[in-house]
Amino acid sequence: MTDIADVLLVHGGTPLEGEIRVRGAKNLVPKAMVAALLGSEPSRLRNVPDIRDVRVVRGLLQLHGVTVNTGEEPGELVLDPTRVESANVADIDAHAGSSRIPILFCGPLLHRLGHAFIPGLGGCDIGGRPIDFHFDVLRRFGATIEKRADGQYLEAPQRLRGCKIRLPYPSVGSTEQVLLTAVLAEGVTELSNAAVEPEIEDLICVLQKMGAIISMDTDRTIRITGVDKLGGYTHRAIPDRLEAASWASAALATEGNIYVRGAQQRSMMTFLNTFRRVGGAFAIDDEGIRFWHPGGPLNAIALETDVHPGFQTDWQQPLVVALTQASGLSIVHETVYESRLGFTSALGQMGAHIQLYRECLGGSACRFGQRNFLHSAVVSGPTKLQGADLVIPDLRGGFSYLIAALAAQGTSRVHGIDLINRGYENFLAKLEGLGAHIELPGVPAQHAKTAAAAVA
Ligand code: EPU
Repeated sequence: MTDIADVLLVHGGTPLEGEIRVRGAKNLVPKAMVAALLGSEPSRLRNVPDIRDVRVVRGLLQLHGVTVNTGEEPGELVLDPTRVESANVADIDAHAGSSRIPILFCGPLLHRLGHAFIPGLGGCDIGGRPIDFHFDVLRRFGATIEKRADGQYLEAPQRLRGCKIRLPYPSVGSTEQVLLTAVLAEGVTELSNAAVEPEIEDLICVLQKMGAIISMDTDRTIRITGVDKLGGYTHRAIPDRLEAASWASAALATEGNIYVRGAQQRSMMTFLNTFRRVGGAFAIDDEGIRFWHPGGPLNAIALETDVHPGFQTDWQQPLVVALTQASGLSIVHETVYESRLGFTSALGQMGAHIQLYRECLGGSACRFGQRNFLHSAVVSGPTKLQGADLVIPDLRGGFSYLIAALAAQGTSRVHGIDLINRGYENFLAKLEGLGAHIELPGVPAQHAKTAAAAVA
């Protein structure tokens, strides 16, 4: 199934206690790295986490002639795009399949080279994850797209032109595609029904530093006036609010107490309200947020995921583990990804009572209600969890399994932990630092910490 280094033994039942630090957001940093391609001068990106998505983009940038070096401070990258060149299709392919970011190279490469190649994409299996919006958008700018057996070949026969676009859904990636393409296109682009996640705002900040002209209205409309040339940027990435919420849920589910250094209230307000409704406690200071289980029963809640400023879908999976410990019936309606509740079947094997439904349960009807997807859940708690053999299905689901295994009685074998390295920096060392009883089978105890850091 998986090799030995990819299996983790988790001895559950110990509250996680201590401090961890989150760095730059996984859903911003790789995109800010792609933005550097648009500049005529080097850029400096700070607060970069050492995660797989960053390594994939670094490799792809280097293939295209961008030099990427570490900067003066830890977590700083200096990206020099002055000699951008075409990359070999086979080399690009070798880097693909593990991330969705390559699709965002389209606009910048079309501007810099007049052509681009996009291989098969990776990313988490949490729904169909089509890329139709991306290609519709690029065609509107004037790109031609040809699908061949090995991937998509794009060309810009002439300079791309600004246009009016309305997204069918406020997709994060498609909004980023428009931003990264419109900034150097000729004329004005007006994007309506745009995503407005904090990571998108931060990408806009990066582009503005480079010389772009971008304004955001209150009604999800973004206007971009194309310019002829962009420079470099110096930017500190916003902290990872998704990772921060994962550790908060881990504190709640294990009856622990975790200080998340780097967590910021502003980007987590909706999560914090929900955490409080469930019965979790938190305290905010200038450096981070402390999350803890205050004792006593947790409350069942109704929860619906949504685009920002709603409850982020990536917060859902870890919090569901904590909801298995709440008293009563919780209702979870996943409206962003049609298959993001599939991970709950393993929680059922551990003793959780979770029933999935095809109907939209809770407040509103969503895109998936008529389409036969199991996208609503009723979680009945509290239930004691027992250790089990678990196979990690996707990034957030994987972290949720770690939380469940840590909250459970007995030992779990968690297979496929390498997937978690896509988005959680150094997670094994962080878990050990919080007092988790974990073991990499075959690695002697005195070497486990080093191995944890190495795997991470
Ligand atoms: N969609 C389409 N067609 C498209 C693009 C999107 O139908 O061409 C649909 C998707 O199928 C989905 C919805 O639109 O149902 C939203 O997708 P979106 O484009 O917003 O997602 P994404 O850009 O692929 C990013 C994050 C995800 C995060 C979502 C929503 C990155 C690399 N990924 O994905 O992060 O869940 O936005 O906020 O930024 C994660 O961190 O675990 C993760 C999956």
